[in-house]
Amino acid sequence: MQIKATDTALLDWTGGSLAVGILEGETELSGDLAKLDQKLAGTISELIAEEEFEGKSGTTVVSRVGGQNPVRKIALVGLGKAEDLSIDSWRKAAAAIARIAKKESTLGISLAAKVESPSDAAQAITEAIILALHEDNRFKSEPESKEPKLETIELIGLAGQDQAIAKGSTIADGVILARELVNAPANEVTPVTMAQTAQQLAQDYGLELKILEESDCEQFEQGMGAYIGVGKASEIPPKFIHLTYKPKGTAKRKVAIVGKSLTFDSGGLNLKTGGSGIETMKMDMGGGAATLGAAKAIAQLKPEVEVHFICAATENMISGKAMHPGDILKAANGKTIEVNNTDAEGRLTLADALVYAEKLEVDAIVDLATLTGACVVALGNDIAGLWSTDDALAQEMKTAAESAGEKFWQLPMEEKYFEGLKSQIADMKNTGPRAGGSITAALFLKQFIKDTPWMHLDVAGPVWTDSASGINNKGATGFPVRTLVNWVSS
Ligand code: BES
Ligand code: MG
Ligand code: ZN
Repeated sequence: MQIKATDTALLDWTGGSLAVGILEGETELSGDLAKLDQKLAGTISELIAEEEFEGKSGTTVVSRVGGQNPVRKIALVGLGKAEDLSIDSWRKAAAAIARIAKKESTLGISLAAKVESPSDAAQAITEAIILALHEDNRFKSEPESKEPKLETIELIGLAGQDQAIAKGSTIADGVILARELVNAPANEVTPVTMAQTAQQLAQDYGLELKILEESDCEQFEQGMGAYIGVGKASEIPPKFIHLTYKPKGTAKRKVAIVGKSLTFDSGGLNLKTGGSGIETMKMDMGGGAATLGAAKAIAQLKPEVEVHFICAATENMISGKAMHPGDILKAANGKTIEVNNTDAEGRLTLADALVYAEKLEVDAIVDLATLTGACVVALGNDIAGLWSTDDALAQEMKTAAESAGEKFWQLPMEEKYFEGLKSQIADMKNTGPRAGGSITAALFLKQFIKDTPWMHLDVAGPVWTDSASGINNKGATGFPVRTLVNWVSS
């Protein structure tokens, strides 16, 4: 499938399906659309009237044109109200078109009316088409739905935007890597295979790669006791993955992205029981998957920023070697943790990963983690939680998320709640009371950062979806690769 910008005008375009965007409340055709309607013997205005098409964002109607006409089918896609137009309108419209036109071999898309930034629109449309069409059929002997037939997609009215299209396609590939890592079950994606994926990225895109084995982790500073403790019961060795992208010239900034990478979370001896969703816990490396997905895109887009990608990969399992509830672990910065719940394992792995990230002397650290069910209770499945010690950093990420169309909501770093993590015997416990569970998780992580501006993203809800909508299909979403890439490249 190839997406390209064409300088053919709307009225001259010929091919299988032609999709045009219509603004809500502007179903009286004018300009080029009126001329096209005339050329197609009134098919467009008839379609609008018959289907009572209103141009609501993301809605579509299709009609066969037939006869000797230059196009076989015409599709109308709603862009919503003119005053609400945003990059997300193009994204939603393009995703809807891709879904209805996937059986055609050629598709022309004309959404360009009133575009403020043609490059942003071309990039967003490209991302949306690729991601809406991506279905993960790797584990089916026979794919359930037919492969899209689309060979050529031409973006009308966006001539000259080839670079933006290439950028959108590179970013979409990064999102797809993240989706594939999350969709793959825990017998397929393990700490070892995650390290292999990182190795492949390093090789393909010239990134530096360092893998710390368990013994290396024991040697780091005061020993990564928290991370190692979590992996104790696994038959598979932990792999602490550190990929680095360095720009050619001097970097204008150095940042670290740290992704929670539990390739499976059984809960440990505080085993996840019936109804806890244990069978979905292959997704618990969603943060790490997005980290590697972002690495893939960033390595190709080559921003002037040095980026460290860190995944402390392991599994939370049960065996005679498992950590016991009540065990005391010592993190690399010397802080001791009473593990009062072995299912709050993500924060233990991140504690050591954050200490490691800070030693790299970066300007900012962002961690992303499928950390708490409490965050899903608070914000639902579509919105990630955001905590930060630095307002400027929080603002940067919100701006990056806005243009990616990915949703975050900032929650308070309420210091008082740290009282809930006080331990009789150690420096802290790993879990507090049920109330404010995603906030105490953030406060726990904060103990492992000294003074680098830091942000924590709880992505437990949005990394997975049970229904296809917008650019997402059922399963892993690849959230928040696009936000991370935007943030680094802004
Ligand atoms: N991986 C889970 C969090 C999670 C829940 C991710 C739902 C995706 C969907 C995490 O390790 C966990 O088990 N958290 C516990 C913390 C509790 C023991 C304080 C939780 O949220 O129940
Ligand atoms: Mg857990
Ligand atoms: Zn977990």
